[in-house]
Amino acid sequence: MGPIAVILQLLAVMSLTAAKDDGLVRTPPMGWMAWERFRCDVDCKDDPENCISEALFRDMADRLYEDGWKELGYEYVIIDDCWMSMERDKEGRLQPDPVRFPGGIAKLANYVHERGLKLGIYADMGTFTCMGFPGTTLDKIQIDAQTFASWGVDYLKFDGCSSNPLVQMLGYPLMSIALNATGRPIVYSCSWPAYLGGLPPFVNYNLMGEICHLWRNYYDIQDSWDSLQAIVDWFFNNQDEIQPAAGPGRWNDPDMLIIGNFGLSMDESRSQMALWAIMAAPLIMSTDLRHLDNGARAILQNKVAIAINQDPLGIQGRRLLKEKSRIEVYWRPLFQSASALVFLSRRTDMPYRYHTSLGKLHYEEGNYEAYDVFTGTTVKGLNSTTEITLSINPSGVVMWYKLYGFVLCLCISSSNHTDTL
Ligand code: GLA
Repeated sequence: MGPIAVILQLLAVMSLTAAKDDGLVRTPPMGWMAWERFRCDVDCKDDPENCISEALFRDMADRLYEDGWKELGYEYVIIDDCWMSMERDKEGRLQPDPVRFPGGIAKLANYVHERGLKLGIYADMGTFTCMGFPGTTLDKIQIDAQTFASWGVDYLKFDGCSSNPLVQMLGYPLMSIALNATGRPIVYSCSWPAYLGGLPPFVNYNLMGEICHLWRNYYDIQDSWDSLQAIVDWFFNNQDEIQPAAGPGRWNDPDMLIIGNFGLSMDESRSQMALWAIMAAPLIMSTDLRHLDNGARAILQNKVAIAINQDPLGIQGRRLLKEKSRIEVYWRPLFQSASALVFLSRRTDMPYRYHTSLGKLHYEEGNYEAYDVFTGTTVKGLNSTTEITLSINPSGVVMWYKLYGFVLCLCISSSNHTDTL
């Protein structure tokens, strides 16, 4: 495609308002992705259980299907980098590595679909993927979109290594058009903002929501509490810029859940789950579901944390307070006047006794009750001035759900939403 045709296509996309308001991912996508846990392990000879191969994705589909994940909403099985052959085929199409994916992607998609799950794949808007596999240059966008659709792919993670802001400005909208043109509903996850520093004026989040269903704003998560804290700080320090961008069908993506791996304690794992729920973040696990301990499993399968994450209003939460004591308070408004609060301790000494009241957290006068998401207890008889004392573990959280006025509670007690508890 010549540069003029590219620009004409770009103008066409600009005139399509809310192009991505297509009914997909009205709540944040949930599923599993290979990258953070399995990286670019292509050594199937030496490490057959963990290498990037069709067997790994079949195993994870089996686990999602058989271990109760699917019923909780975890439905996308997403291939990340390193699935490709180094060469395109004779027709110029991407093809999987023939040794590691001997059955091909269409067959794998079929396997995943037979279990009621969906398949995601990875490509890169540039010359090479981040690990050096073939990229999707501007002239290859259409053929790659068509190839993915023909395989039955349901989700595309479109990375941005080996390119520049101009190429990205053209390529990300063009891929959006090309995916739409296939007629197949494909969730479109863009890494674009992360390559532009994640903030206005370089990133236009109104436009982002019209082009992509979700987007990575910031650096990759690594298997550590430090990495997680850096991401949380960036997202909430910049909440005025990025929080309004989120809503049904358009999500900020702080990256994968690392719960179940090596870097987080149980308290830190609960903190990730709680904060990702407050952020209306995609819940994309990257852990070995074949060898998951029960503690991590219980956190990832916490129905109330998931319900908060999947709240139908889709309003991303905000940080309310950063105390000198290194306690931080986060809040998210939810459907039917409910809300969620997270009290996070950034301390490193011992459980901290934090004193507050709902009034101090801007709750109006009234009667409230709260469900403690990780202990399963209910705190009743609260009003806005009741003195509250919470014990918060170092790098841990207390998470409260469904704080609402007592009268309202009676009004909504028969709705579906309250049945989720
Ligand atoms: C980038 C992305 C990661 C992962 C790797 C793969 O770093 O941000 O999520 O996809 O590339 O190479």
